[in-house]
Amino acid sequence: MDRVLVVDDEPNIRESFARVLVREGYEVITAERGETAIDVVADSPPDVIVMDIHLPGLDGMETYKRLKTTHPRLPVIIMTGYGTTDLAIQATQLGAVDYQLKPFSPGAMLESIRHALADARLMQRTVALDPEGISTSTDAIIGQSAAMQAVYKDIGRVADTLATVLIRGETGTGKELVARAIYQYSARAAGPLVTVNCVAIPEGLLESELFGHERGAFTGATGRRIGRFEQAHGGTLFLDEVGDLPTATQAKLLRALQERAFERVGGGETIRVDVRVIAATNRDLEEAIAVGAFRTDLYHRLNVVAIHLPPLRQRREDIPRLVGYFMQRSAAKLPAPVPPIADDARTALNSYPWPGNVRELEHCIERLVIYTRGRSVQLEDVTKALQRPTGAMSTTATAEEPLRETIERYLQSPIGPNAHMQMIETVDRLLVEVALRLHDGNQTQAARALGLTRATLWSKVKRYGLGRGSEEPSAGVGG
Ligand SMILES: Nc1ncnc2c1ncn2[C@@H]1O[C@H](COP(=O)(O)OP(=O)(O)OP(=O)(O)O)[C@@H](O)[C@H]1O
Ligand SMILES: [Mg+2]
Repeated sequence: MDRVLVVDDEPNIRESFARVLVREGYEVITAERGETAIDVVADSPPDVIVMDIHLPGLDGMETYKRLKTTHPRLPVIIMTGYGTTDLAIQATQLGAVDYQLKPFSPGAMLESIRHALADARLMQRTVALDPEGISTSTDAIIGQSAAMQAVYKDIGRVADTLATVLIRGETGTGKELVARAIYQYSARAAGPLVTVNCVAIPEGLLESELFGHERGAFTGATGRRIGRFEQAHGGTLFLDEVGDLPTATQAKLLRALQERAFERVGGGETIRVDVRVIAATNRDLEEAIAVGAFRTDLYHRLNVVAIHLPPLRQRREDIPRLVGYFMQRSAAKLPAPVPPIADDARTALNSYPWPGNVRELEHCIERLVIYTRGRSVQLEDVTKALQRPTGAMSTTATAEEPLRETIERYLQSPIGPNAHMQMIETVDRLLVEVALRLHDGNQTQAARALGLTRATLWSKVKRYGLGRGSEEPSAGVGG
C-alpha cells in the first residue's frame, strides 16, 4: 500500500485528504508543521509527500529544501494558495514534481499523486542485468544471447557519459528497462529521472509539458508552468515514444538538445538547463523521415548513440530463461507454487513467434500460473494462454456482414475497370476518416487506434485530402 504524507496546518484539509486518499487505497499520515514532516520522513519515509508551501514555523520552502537534501528521490507535490504560486514554482524548479493551486479538484490531485508514484518507482526500483538469483524487489533484464550481451555492453559504455542515447526496438522488447538501467548506472543516478511519454500527451499540450509556459501563453494557461526539461535540471530526462512527436515540437526539441536552451511557451526568457536525455521509440524513424513526419537533423542528433533491442524471435535462446524468470515472479506475486512444464508445452513456448515480444511472453506466463495453480502446464494451457483477446476479432466479424452486402450491391452495379482498387481505397479512406473523427482530428490517437504509424496515417491523410488544409502532420487539436 502506498503511503502519502500530507503536510498542512489546516485541519480540514488534512481530514478531507485523508478521507479521499484512504478511499483510493492509500495509507495516509499527516503532519501540521514542517518540523514534524521532517521527523516523520526521517523515521520512515512515505512514498509521496503532498505539502502546503505556506506553513507556520519552519516554512514550506525551507522544509522542502531540507527534505530534498536528505531524500532526493522522494516525490513532493506542492499545494499553494493564490499569492504563493511563485514559491510553488520555485519549488518545482528545485525538483518538486508538481504543484496544485488551492482549491483543487480531488481528481486532479489524485492524478498528480499517481503520476508522481509511477515516476518515483521508475527511479527507485533498480534494474539488474541478468542476475543469478531472482528477486521480487528489483527488476531484471534477462537474456544471455549474444544480442543481449551486446546490449549490456552498450549500457555500460554509454551510462557514464552524458551522451544522448536513442533506444530502438519493437514494442515490448524492454526499452523502458534499458532506459532505467542507463539512468541507474550513470553518474546522475542520485539526481531525478523525469519521464515524458510523448504519445500519451495531447499534441496541443506537449510543448508546454516539455518546456513549460508563461501565464496567458494560450487559453487556459492561468499561471506559469515549469516544463519537464526544467524539472530534470541536473538529472536525466527520458523521452519515451519520441518517434511520435509532432514536427513542430521536433524543431524545439532539436534546439534544446543542441544548445541545452529553450524558451517557455509564450515566454521570451531563454532557459538554460543541464539535462541528460535518453529517448526511446518503436517507430521506423527512417520511414518517418521518408514521408516527412520526422526531421532528419533531429534523427542524427538522437541517433549518435543508439541501442537496438532485438525482437524476441531473433534471440530464441533467451526464451527458456525468460519463462523461468516470469514463472518465479508471477508465482511469488499470487502466491502460488511454480508449476512444472510438460515437454510439448515447453516446445510450444520456445517456438511461438512472440510478436508482442517479452511483454507478451510475460503476460502469457502470468496467465499460465493463474490457470494451473500448481499443477503442471500442458500444451492446451499454452494454446489457451496464447489466444489473443478476442474483442477486436469479434468486432471485425460483426462488421463483415454489412460489408458483404455492400460489396454485393457494388459488384452488381455497373462499375469501371478498377472495381477492386476503388473499393479497397474507399475502405482505406473511410477507416482513416472515421478514426480521425472519433479522435477529434488527433492524428497520433487515430494512428494508434488503427495500429498504423503516424507517418503512414499522415501519408493517407495527404493522399485522400483529409487534412485540415495544414501541411504539417500535426493537425490534431489535442487538449
Ligand atoms: N529482457 C527482459 N527481461 C525481463 N523482462 C523484460 C525484458 N524485456 C522486457 N521485459 C518486460 O516486458 C515488459 C515490457 O518491457 P518495456 O516496457 O521495457 O518494453 P518497451 O520496449 O518499452 O515497449 P513499448 O514499445 O511497447 O513501450 C515489462 O514488463 C518489462 O519488465
Ligand atoms: Mg515503452
